[in-house]
Amino acid sequence: MLPLLLLVAGAASTAAASGDGCRVGCPLALAAYYFTAESNLTFIASLFNFPDYTALLPYNPNITDPNYIVTGARISVPFTCSCLALPADPTSTYLAGSIPSNLSRGESYGDVAAEFANLTTAAWLKATNRYPADKLPASGTIDATINCSCGDKSVSPRYGLFLTYPLWDGETLASAAEQYGFSSPAQMDLLRRYNPGMGGVSGKGIVFIPVKDTNGSYRPLESGLCSAGTLLHFCELLCFYIEAIKHQQAKLDGLFRNTLSGGAVAGIVIACIVILIVGIWLVVIYYRRQKMRKAKSLPCPEDSVQLGSASQAEGIKVNRSIQFSYEELCDATHNFSMEHKIGQGGFGSVYYAELRGEKAAIKKMDAKATQEFLAELKVLTHVHHLNLVHLIGYCVENCLFLVYEFIENGNLSQHLHGTGYEPLSWTSRERIALDSARGLEYIHEHTVPVYVHRDIKSANILIDKDLRAKVADFGLTKLTEIGTASRSLPTRVVGTFGYMPPEYARYGEVSPKVDVYAFGIVLYELISAKEAIVRSTEFTDTTSLVCLFEETLSMPNPTEALEELIDPRLAGDYPVDSVLKMANLAKSCTHEEPSMRPTMRSVVVALMALSSKDNELTRGLELSPRELRSG
Ligand SMILES: Nc1ncnc2c1ncn2[C@@H]1O[C@H](COP(=O)(O)OP(=O)(O)O)[C@@H](O)[C@H]1O
Ligand SMILES: *[C@@H]1O[C@H](CO)[C@@H](O)[C@H](O)[C@H]1NC(C)=O
Ligand SMILES: *[C@@H]1O[C@H](CO)[C@@H](O)[C@H](O)[C@H]1NC(C)=O
Ligand SMILES: *[C@@H]1O[C@H](CO)[C@@H](O)[C@H](O)[C@H]1NC(C)=O
Ligand SMILES: *[C@@H]1O[C@H](CO)[C@@H](O)[C@H](O)[C@H]1NC(C)=O
Ligand SMILES: *[C@@H]1O[C@H](CO)[C@@H](O)[C@H](O)[C@H]1NC(C)=O
Ligand SMILES: *[C@@H]1O[C@H](CO)[C@@H](O)[C@H](O)[C@H]1NC(C)=O
Ligand SMILES: [Mg+2]
Repeated sequence: MLPLLLLVAGAASTAAASGDGCRVGCPLALAAYYFTAESNLTFIASLFNFPDYTALLPYNPNITDPNYIVTGARISVPFTCSCLALPADPTSTYLAGSIPSNLSRGESYGDVAAEFANLTTAAWLKATNRYPADKLPASGTIDATINCSCGDKSVSPRYGLFLTYPLWDGETLASAAEQYGFSSPAQMDLLRRYNPGMGGVSGKGIVFIPVKDTNGSYRPLESGLCSAGTLLHFCELLCFYIEAIKHQQAKLDGLFRNTLSGGAVAGIVIACIVILIVGIWLVVIYYRRQKMRKAKSLPCPEDSVQLGSASQAEGIKVNRSIQFSYEELCDATHNFSMEHKIGQGGFGSVYYAELRGEKAAIKKMDAKATQEFLAELKVLTHVHHLNLVHLIGYCVENCLFLVYEFIENGNLSQHLHGTGYEPLSWTSRERIALDSARGLEYIHEHTVPVYVHRDIKSANILIDKDLRAKVADFGLTKLTEIGTASRSLPTRVVGTFGYMPPEYARYGEVSPKVDVYAFGIVLYELISAKEAIVRSTEFTDTTSLVCLFEETLSMPNPTEALEELIDPRLAGDYPVDSVLKMANLAKSCTHEEPSMRPTMRSVVVALMALSSKDNELTRGLELSPRELRSG
């Protein structure tokens, strides 16, 4: 079992450590091959391993006579753009096509680069192949690595097919782009965003230019998220494992390449993958068994109240003022009766109680408390903020119970998606957004230690009688983390699908930006009242709010398109430019790249600006009829 666990842990850690050069490639990219006086189409096709040049013709509609092509023309050659890892550092990834190229006797990296007409360089070939430059085999195969692009969601979803264009003497990004129909200032701005740092370069380097598909129209960006089918949940999970396996494979490859033959490497890699899969499976089964056994052998004392201070005396030394006895909790909830149950969540059930004259919500946790978590709890009881649900205390007799202040008015998810609540006005939505942003900002920046919530979602934003919002459940991920440290696949399981940013879902990378992303989804929910994962007949596929909004916001007239998405229960009663501003804020919060997302502090500032402006507006509206009457 142990080796399996290690292997699985290894896979998880490799994934977590991976650089963010790329995560996936795309099926098609084009290379702009510079046609010299000595070139011919047959040669170019064979260079890219095509049986003959007819494979190139669909991508070069302006070739009228294959036997007569002017020198200096560019031939577009299709290839697959993959996300690859450097042999020397499997964690740094880059997008490139890898074209197997046979070495003829005595050929060097420079010679191969020259054949590829500056689509690659000797240095880049050396970096991406395993042979040292002076030890190239006399005959053998190396990978001709040609950089490529698959597009960038944050620049435009419209372009998903790119030409790798090496700048020749005297050429610039602008001159190259112009040949492919990009010349206006706006278009050049777009191209500069696709080619950072290449704006002022002349005669060297590679630029990426969006090009049309064989059918004459631009191929839109295929977003991993947006193309997801009905099995989105499963898919996210699967992506993580595949990614983990890939990285593991790359690492092993790097390790064994120099000492073992290709066959042996393949064998080892396949064996490792199989072991890895079996390992994951066994771990899952093992954990389930363990859980079942625990459930059987350690029933929570539903109706046995005999456990007194004896069990506490066993070493848990915590501040008594915040510790409740099991007896007290039982009394307050009528032995945890069904009538007192107010909710069920991933961590356990929630009961209403009146404790020492105060209304409280008691969470009966499925997990058991460890010493570490108890220390953590003690800290948590000292976190006070208007926009955070206060942890009053806890009880650790056999089961773990957390006692929170009771928040009367349900959670935000119920208000938005449930029945039985009045529709929230736009002003209250803005206030709820600001309240929860403030709660989050507080745990990100002002508590000691600072917390990343990791499970921000509308169900964890509670609403009080004045429709003010409070963030619930912060600090609880620590429980799962510590409680499952032996599980080896721990951190990523925490969180809720639909609210997890890509870097967290795939690599388990945790930073405050994980919460910022989830908060962006909550903003989208506030606007649309749709669930984070949208299952509807209207959109035949399951899609996510992120995809719906990104599509909408990238339309030529986003305001108009946005109105389709706004919660109909608002009945048109909202300032549409505020909604657009909030949607754009949510969009920046859900940026794929964590570093591009704002901090919660700037989110608070943006929301404050938004709601103060609207308050002025509504105040103005309230005043005007009165003014009319008096005047
Ligand atoms: N302090 C509280 N006051 C009132 N209701 C609460 C409180 N805490 C939780 N609840 C209710 O119980 C439900 C379940 O809570 P929880 O166990 O945190 O699950 P989850 O957050 O996964 O939905 C919440 O969605 C909320 O409606
Ligand atoms: C094409 O070019 C290659 C190498 O430049 C050369 O060997 C071959 O003879 C050429 N073929 C034709 C038909 O010109
Ligand atoms: C085809 O058109 C493109 C774009 O205008 C140009 O770059 C390329 O050189 C042309 N190719 C040929 C073979 O004329
Ligand atoms: C490269 O060499 C292999 C055998 O070593 C051969 O099967 C293949 O056809 C060659 N490819 C090219 C493009 O010459
Ligand atoms: C293109 O490649 C040739 C070698 O084929 C090299 O001499 C030349 O400097 C390169 N040109 C540019 C602009 O990189
Ligand atoms: C390809 O991209 C990598 C970075 O991803 C860069 O280091 C390298 O120089 C590029 N190669 C070429 C030939 O431009
Ligand atoms: C052209 O092909 C792309 C995908 O290759 C597709 O998305 C697009 O709809 C096609 N356009 C037309 C007009 O057929
Ligand atoms: Mg909760």
